[in-house]
Amino acid sequence: MSGRRVRLGVLVSGSGSNLQALLDACAREDFPAEVACVVSNVPTAYALERARAAGVATVVVDHKAHASKAEFEAAILDALRSAGVEWVCLAGFMRLLSADFLGRFAGRVLNIHPSLLPSFPGLHAQRQALERGVKVTGCTVHFVDAGTDTGPIIGQAAVPVLPDDDEKSLGARILAEEHRLYPLAVRLAVTGQVSSDGTRTRVSAVPTTSELSLRSPGAEK
Ligand code: GRF
Repeated sequence: MSGRRVRLGVLVSGSGSNLQALLDACAREDFPAEVACVVSNVPTAYALERARAAGVATVVVDHKAHASKAEFEAAILDALRSAGVEWVCLAGFMRLLSADFLGRFAGRVLNIHPSLLPSFPGLHAQRQALERGVKVTGCTVHFVDAGTDTGPIIGQAAVPVLPDDDEKSLGARILAEEHRLYPLAVRLAVTGQVSSDGTRTRVSAVPTTSELSLRSPGAEK
């Protein structure tokens, strides 16, 4: 792609498979963004290895090494600013960000969550879905506000919950959709094709049907 690419900062805490999906998308010539920096609050996160393997700058900002949340967030902001980050993607980042931090990237922070929000926000979304007995669940990409998984929804993908599912099998089925949905949503958002009134979003470029996913039990083949 000719033209400037939007600089993403990706915040991680764990395995980083969604980071990998973003790195893979950014490696494609026609993708409008690049990962400028990966910040982890967990020094041992495997996501850091994925970033290094892709030649992306990494910064560890360990929340345990900072006396307050304000100092922790200031260190993250420093890292993002030094890397010239314009948009922030949370990808399995396990700390809540303050309204103050979010204000520094107003309307430019995205998150992915493994449920069809507003169902099952917070931790263990797959377990919550199994315990509640839903037959369809999925994943959501949304703008981040100061609540827990409450910001305006950009896109969702659904998967069936099968009778013998446990957290692992259901989580893997959802993750496969996450890896498709996140790059798609990032592309739409950073190219200005998603507007939000603070609650609802409108996507001006309708994705092709092959990019969308809506499945019901038994219909996934
Ligand atoms: C994903 O399920 C994501 O939706 C949630 O945390 C998990 C992170 O997985 N926010 P990974 O680190 O991207 O593999």
